[in-house]
Amino acid sequence: MDVRPVTRDFVRVFGVGEIDEWRARRVTLNGVDIVLFRCGDAIAAIENLCPHQRFSRFHDAVCRDRTVRCPMHGWSFDVHTGAAVEGGGSVRVFEVRIDGADVSVRVPGPSAVDSMTW
Ligand code: FES
Repeated sequence: MDVRPVTRDFVRVFGVGEIDEWRARRVTLNGVDIVLFRCGDAIAAIENLCPHQRFSRFHDAVCRDRTVRCPMHGWSFDVHTGAAVEGGGSVRVFEVRIDGADVSVRVPGPSAVDSMTW
Protein backbone atom coordinates (compact mmCIF):
# COMPACT_ATOMS: atom_id res chain seq x y z
CA MET A 1 0.00 0.00 0.00
CA ASP A 2 1.39 3.35 -1.07
CA VAL A 3 0.26 5.84 1.60
CA ARG A 4 1.56 9.35 1.16
CA PRO A 5 0.49 12.94 1.82
CA VAL A 6 -1.20 14.69 -1.09
CA THR A 7 -1.99 17.94 0.65
CA ARG A 8 -1.87 19.02 4.26
CA ASP A 9 -5.25 17.38 4.88
CA PHE A 10 -5.44 14.57 2.33
CA VAL A 11 -3.43 11.39 2.13
CA ARG A 12 -3.24 9.10 -0.87
CA VAL A 13 -4.20 5.67 0.43
CA PHE A 14 -4.93 3.39 -2.53
CA GLY A 15 -5.12 3.27 -6.27
CA VAL A 16 -8.62 3.35 -7.76
CA GLY A 17 -8.11 -0.17 -9.08
CA GLU A 18 -7.27 -1.49 -5.62
CA ILE A 19 -10.79 -0.90 -4.31
CA ASP A 20 -13.46 -3.10 -5.78
CA GLU A 21 -17.09 -3.87 -4.95
CA TRP A 22 -16.29 -7.15 -3.25
CA ARG A 23 -13.48 -6.17 -0.97
CA ALA A 24 -13.31 -3.30 1.48
CA ARG A 25 -9.90 -1.76 2.04
CA ARG A 26 -8.63 -0.75 5.44
CA VAL A 27 -6.11 1.90 6.44
CA THR A 28 -5.15 3.57 9.71
CA LEU A 29 -4.58 7.31 9.51
CA ASN A 30 -3.87 9.54 12.45
CA GLY A 31 -4.84 6.66 14.72
CA VAL A 32 -8.24 6.23 13.08
CA ASP A 33 -9.19 2.86 11.58
CA ILE A 34 -10.80 3.70 8.23
CA VAL A 35 -12.51 1.42 5.71
CA LEU A 36 -13.00 2.33 2.07
CA PHE A 37 -15.78 0.90 -0.09
CA ARG A 38 -16.59 1.12 -3.75
CA CYS A 39 -20.30 1.71 -4.25
CA GLY A 40 -21.01 1.83 -7.95
CA ASP A 41 -18.86 4.60 -9.37
CA ALA A 42 -18.24 6.22 -5.98
CA ILE A 43 -15.73 5.43 -3.28
CA ALA A 44 -16.63 6.13 0.34
CA ALA A 45 -14.65 6.04 3.57
CA ILE A 46 -16.04 5.44 7.06
CA GLU A 47 -14.54 4.81 10.45
CA ASN A 48 -14.28 1.13 11.23
CA LEU A 49 -16.25 1.48 14.43
CA CYS A 50 -19.89 0.48 14.80
CA PRO A 51 -21.93 2.65 17.20
CA HIS A 52 -23.88 -0.38 18.42
CA GLN A 53 -21.33 -2.29 20.50
CA ARG A 54 -18.23 -0.61 19.08
CA PHE A 55 -16.95 -3.60 17.14
CA SER A 56 -14.54 -2.83 14.30
CA ARG A 57 -15.73 -5.22 11.61
CA PHE A 58 -16.80 -3.07 8.69
CA HIS A 59 -13.70 -4.22 6.83
CA ASP A 60 -15.43 -7.63 6.51
CA ALA A 61 -18.52 -6.07 4.92
CA VAL A 62 -19.41 -5.07 1.37
CA CYS A 63 -21.35 -2.04 0.19
CA ARG A 64 -24.77 -2.49 -1.42
CA ASP A 65 -26.87 0.44 -2.61
CA ARG A 66 -24.55 2.85 -0.71
CA THR A 67 -25.23 0.93 2.50
CA VAL A 68 -22.89 -1.19 4.60
CA ARG A 69 -24.15 -3.69 7.15
CA CYS A 70 -22.18 -4.40 10.29
CA PRO A 71 -21.30 -8.12 10.26
CA MET A 72 -21.83 -8.41 14.01
CA HIS A 73 -25.56 -7.73 14.49
CA GLY A 74 -26.76 -6.23 11.26
CA TRP A 75 -27.05 -2.52 11.90
CA SER A 76 -26.54 -0.72 8.61
CA PHE A 77 -25.35 2.71 7.57
CA ASP A 78 -25.26 4.98 4.57
CA VAL A 79 -21.56 5.12 3.67
CA HIS A 80 -21.85 8.64 2.26
CA THR A 81 -23.65 10.30 5.16
CA GLY A 82 -22.89 7.91 8.03
CA ALA A 83 -26.56 7.89 9.03
CA ALA A 84 -28.17 4.69 10.27
CA VAL A 85 -30.40 2.85 7.79
CA GLU A 86 -31.19 0.10 10.32
CA GLY A 87 -30.36 0.38 14.00
CA GLY A 88 -29.29 3.70 15.39
CA GLY A 89 -26.50 6.17 15.77
CA SER A 90 -24.12 6.99 12.97
CA VAL A 91 -20.63 6.26 11.73
CA ARG A 92 -17.99 8.85 10.95
CA VAL A 93 -17.46 9.49 7.28
CA PHE A 94 -14.36 10.94 5.68
CA GLU A 95 -14.11 12.96 2.51
CA VAL A 96 -12.65 11.03 -0.41
CA ARG A 97 -10.91 12.54 -3.43
CA ILE A 98 -10.15 10.71 -6.63
CA ASP A 99 -7.39 12.25 -8.68
CA GLY A 100 -6.68 10.20 -11.76
CA ALA A 101 -5.80 6.74 -10.48
CA ASP A 102 -5.25 7.83 -6.87
CA VAL A 103 -7.71 7.70 -3.97
CA SER A 104 -7.08 10.14 -1.13
CA VAL A 105 -8.85 10.53 2.19
CA ARG A 106 -9.18 13.57 4.40
CA VAL A 107 -7.79 12.40 7.72
CA PRO A 108 -9.08 13.74 11.03
CA GLY A 109 -7.14 16.21 13.10
CA PRO A 110 -5.22 19.37 12.25
CA SER A 111 -1.88 17.64 11.79
CA ALA A 112 -3.02 14.32 10.44
CA VAL A 113 -0.17 13.94 7.98
CA ASP A 114 2.43 14.40 10.69
CA SER A 115 1.03 11.68 12.90
CA MET A 116 -0.31 9.10 10.52
CA THR A 117 0.39 5.43 11.05
CA TRP A 118 2.43 3.77 8.33
S1 FES B 1 -21.61 -4.07 16.76
FE1 FES B 1 -22.35 -3.47 14.82
S2 FES B 1 -24.42 -4.09 14.84
FE2 FES B 1 -23.70 -4.67 16.76
